[in-house]
Amino acid sequence: MTNNLFFSLFLLLASTLSSPSLARVPFHTNAPSEDFKNISYATRARHLLEDNESQAQKIVDFARGYMTNDDLETAVKEFGQRCSNISRIYSIGKSVNGVPLWVIEISDKPGEEEAEPAFKYIGNVHGDEPVGRELLLFLANWLCDNHLKDPLATLIVENVHLHILPSMNPDGFSLRRRRNANNIDLNRNFPDQFFPVNDDEDSRQPETRAIMNWLRDIRFTASATLHGGALVANYPWDGTEDKKTNYYGSPDDDTFRFMASIYSHSHYNMSSSKEFPGGITNGAAWYPIYGGMQDWNYIHAGCFELTLEVSDDKWPNAAELPVIWRYNKMSLLNLVASLVKTGVHGRIYSSGDGRPLPGFITVSGINYTVRAGTVFADYHRILAPGDKYRVVATMPGYKSKNTTIWLDDGPMTLDFVLDPEVSVKGSVLQNVYDCNCNSKCRQEFVQFLWGAHLELYFGFILILGLLCILFQRRVKAKSSRAKRTVVV
Ligand SMILES: *[C@@H]1O[C@H](CO)[C@@H](O)[C@H](O)[C@H]1NC(C)=O
Ligand SMILES: *[C@@H]1O[C@H](CO)[C@@H](O)[C@H](O)[C@H]1NC(C)=O
Ligand SMILES: *[C@@H]1O[C@H](CO)[C@@H](O)[C@H](O)[C@H]1NC(C)=O
Ligand SMILES: *[C@@H]1O[C@H](CO)[C@@H](O)[C@H](O)[C@H]1NC(C)=O
Ligand SMILES: *[C@@H]1O[C@H](CO)[C@@H](O)[C@H](O)[C@H]1NC(C)=O
Ligand SMILES: *[C@@H]1O[C@H](CO)[C@@H](O)[C@H](O)[C@H]1NC(C)=O
Ligand SMILES: [Zn+2]
Repeated sequence: MTNNLFFSLFLLLASTLSSPSLARVPFHTNAPSEDFKNISYATRARHLLEDNESQAQKIVDFARGYMTNDDLETAVKEFGQRCSNISRIYSIGKSVNGVPLWVIEISDKPGEEEAEPAFKYIGNVHGDEPVGRELLLFLANWLCDNHLKDPLATLIVENVHLHILPSMNPDGFSLRRRRNANNIDLNRNFPDQFFPVNDDEDSRQPETRAIMNWLRDIRFTASATLHGGALVANYPWDGTEDKKTNYYGSPDDDTFRFMASIYSHSHYNMSSSKEFPGGITNGAAWYPIYGGMQDWNYIHAGCFELTLEVSDDKWPNAAELPVIWRYNKMSLLNLVASLVKTGVHGRIYSSGDGRPLPGFITVSGINYTVRAGTVFADYHRILAPGDKYRVVATMPGYKSKNTTIWLDDGPMTLDFVLDPEVSVKGSVLQNVYDCNCNSKCRQEFVQFLWGAHLELYFGFILILGLLCILFQRRVKAKSSRAKRTVVV
């Protein structure tokens, strides 16, 4: 019992003192500025679904002013040097023709495991949709230039691990076509929930395989891919079981509508679309696809993914790219920042020894499970604000706990302390994760708690008690503004 009480106090204190920068910051709005209003765009036909080889020649001219694959590689590497203290450059594999799939990770501790959410942006999934790869370089450079100057940039760098893959399909780009060098549409190449079209692992494209392995390495909370040919934020499901064009929502339909709306409403004019109310659409309600990346992310990788169509024109004149960046800037930033500014976040601990438990989080009424991290047991659950949720934490070998929360527009921290299951005879069950939990971190923590000096320990409890009283006063004083922290 004392253990429990002590530990809960500790958690309360720890979560209060840590991450002060998590405090709520309102979303920036993107009021259209005057200089945008008079730009006239040539209306060009959309070629959303099919390649038109006879147009390839024309498109070669469109590509003038866009980065070539070599330019992109140089830009990524130069970025890595210029912004080395908040970034890391790595490759997740190679395209069919051997072009490295470069990723920029942006974080104050790139490459290090932290109790923070990770977000990924992927551009140029379709070779003939190159606007995304340009926008993502603008985004990376803006974050680098504005870190410690702009609160939104600082918030992202310090609280999120942002991974940017500017081009998933460099071969398609140099061929000026939608598909990769093997003539496969990469956004139809993932395992599908309804049809076993891509279940044969050997026939999977190297670009697809690279993404799938990437998601085994990194636990992404959310992501988005950038496409061109329309102006809309698209969310799951992308396919229907009967192949008909119908609205088909995932268990997290409200969550996805919320995320897609952050993008469209932060955009210069996406939300004023006449074709798509609010500038968002369910994928299957628009046109169903099978083997898409978006559904696969949500089903198999715990990652909430959107498909963003960022410009009506697939190859706008390169001179327009800075304007398109300005149109999309706040959307790209606010979507990443939403992982910190909204949702329920926390860690799961064992009441016995206080070690982190890599358990699971579910929400009553939503058939979906979010996994806590293996090292820190942190979880990040995006949810539409303005609703009541029952959040349940589970871990094999431990008793589940749940609590009902009211989630408002800001983020909420909710830590769980789980009790080991006790068998009929009263002996504590062996925990299945005993051996593979991060033992170094655990040992240090346990030693810290139960170090040789008993007097120190009691002194510490006293100090904690005092701090706790102080904290409660503070919470009372600013309860309406402070980030809410609850330990269950
Ligand atoms: C935009 O165009 C309108 C008329 O079409 C004109 O009155 C206005 O001065 C223009 N604004 C700018 C900034 O050029
Ligand atoms: C391809 O584009 C050309 C030129 O715009 C057009 O005449 C032709 O009908 C298109 N073909 C298909 C299959 O869309
Ligand atoms: C990165 O370097 C810049 C300039 O050298 C410095 O101002 C900034 O504090 C550094 N950022 C981090 C996260 O270390
Ligand atoms: C958004 O603005 C661009 C540039 O002015 C224009 O081409 C496009 O039609 C607009 N879209 C909507 C949905 O208003
Ligand atoms: C929950 O989702 C899983 C697939 O993730 C499915 O197998 C199961 O039938 C669903 N349960 C309910 C009650 O819908
Ligand atoms: C929540 O916990 C209570 C007891 O604490 C339990 O009776 C109830 O079944 C739990 N609900 C869920 C959804 O786990
Ligand atoms: Zn596309």
